[in-house]
Amino acid sequence: MAKELIAVLDFGGQYSHLITRRIRECEVYSELLPYTVKPEEIRNLNAGGIVLSGGPASVYETGAPKCDPGIFNLGLPILGICYGLQLMVDLLGGHVKAIDRHEYGKTILKISDHSDLFHDVKAETVSWMSHGDYADVLPNGFEVIATSENCPTAAIRDSARKFYAVQFHPEVAHTENGTRIIENFTRIISGCKPKWTPHSIIETAVNQIKSQVGNDEVLSAVSGGVDSTTTAVLLQKAIGERLTCVFVNHGLLRKDEAKRIVKILKEDLKLHLHYVDASERFLKKLRGVDDPETKRKIVGEEFIRVFTEESSKLGAFRWLAQGTLYPDVIESAGTGSPASRIKTHHNVGGIPEWSRFSIIEPLKFLYKDEVRRIAQELHVPNSLVATHPFPGPGLAVRVIGEVTDEKLRICRDASAIVEDVLVRKGLYNSVWQAFAIVGDDKAVGVLGDHRQLGYVVSVRIITSLDGMTADWARIPEEVLEEISGRITGEVSGVTWVTYTITSKPPSTIEPC
Ligand code: XMP
Repeated sequence: MAKELIAVLDFGGQYSHLITRRIRECEVYSELLPYTVKPEEIRNLNAGGIVLSGGPASVYETGAPKCDPGIFNLGLPILGICYGLQLMVDLLGGHVKAIDRHEYGKTILKISDHSDLFHDVKAETVSWMSHGDYADVLPNGFEVIATSENCPTAAIRDSARKFYAVQFHPEVAHTENGTRIIENFTRIISGCKPKWTPHSIIETAVNQIKSQVGNDEVLSAVSGGVDSTTTAVLLQKAIGERLTCVFVNHGLLRKDEAKRIVKILKEDLKLHLHYVDASERFLKKLRGVDDPETKRKIVGEEFIRVFTEESSKLGAFRWLAQGTLYPDVIESAGTGSPASRIKTHHNVGGIPEWSRFSIIEPLKFLYKDEVRRIAQELHVPNSLVATHPFPGPGLAVRVIGEVTDEKLRICRDASAIVEDVLVRKGLYNSVWQAFAIVGDDKAVGVLGDHRQLGYVVSVRIITSLDGMTADWARIPEEVLEEISGRITGEVSGVTWVTYTITSKPPSTIEPC
């Protein structure tokens, strides 16, 4: 059988998902697995190679996560990264100890062998290091192929067994030629073929949908986001007329959003769309509620109620499609990674256990950037593919405290200005999300000759790779000035504008 997949064993490192994504960027399919996975399971997955991820532990501590040593007897190439290097050394009979000086950040790597892992990589190259331990005694059969100033075993290999390990992080963008190193491991050393392309992802998904639903009808909740739209277009490609989409407007959408989305879904993508304006119902339920989790719960539950009512009007459906992505699947299954959930993400469209539907999730093996790529291949308009992620509970999580008509208006109009300025300055696509937040804080401003109390609006613009961590965007002062001037000038009732300068962690992206 052809070798298809690289298995990444997760030891809790912050970059574990990034390793899987980088491998997929080399057009080789990869899955993130718990480090406790059994060797037979890896064999059954038809793996061509294994990567051991980084992680926060020290191998010599009691309770450090260790994989089944049987994986070294599978006859597969293995690449250890950071903790993965130390674990490989430890399990194969070498020794690991604390380093005198922690190595952190950009570090020059001196490479002595370019025959396989470092094929086409410069002899002196920048790598990203983050470690407090190193291998001081190598297992039998291993040799050093790169060093750094503080680490004499920065990269090692046993070419007979095809075991490789690096102390640095090739998956991190700061490592020059990191992708080349990963490509060398997956393509040259493991012999995996470049088969994971948008075209093949679509073909696989369409075939899976066809065999899963047979001749049944499928219902899909669409929100105008790239995930639910791509899910619907894939289904339409697989089952055509037997797909019905429902779009519930909960009254918490951005400015003119409902109209724009209906046009794209109906006219551009020719989806069979049932549009429901349930704004009043949602806003009534939210009246007087200021607790963030309660607001999320209300929106989630009301959505299910409206969706169930509307779908029963449309006929009997056995299947409900959802745009669940790979990180959500991994997060809820738990890979052994210590990452924990900060708040309940009631994905609007998420259905309760008592539901009569069977669930179909055609995107559940994909990352967001892969979804965007297949959306383009499926001719989803770029205006939709490029829009920033928008939370299911909508502006209910961007209005702090009670959701009132006035705060909603301010949040909507101010957000539209933030987006408009960024688009015109050519900055919109270089940030992950950009929006306005409004709470109950008021501050004095001068309007004409009068001192007057008005709302404080906070602008949040962040950069991120996947929404799991984020940094506040260093937007040029004159752009912030324009945003601030336009918000106080054009949105009545606002006297102050602030800019949020906390990253995630410790903050989250959304304020509620
Ligand atoms: P936080 O605020 O948790 O957000 O840092 C991380 C990312 O998730 C989005 N988000 C949500 N998406 N339903 C969603 O579909 C939700 O309830 C929800 N809450 C937050 C948020 O916009 C960011 O991209």
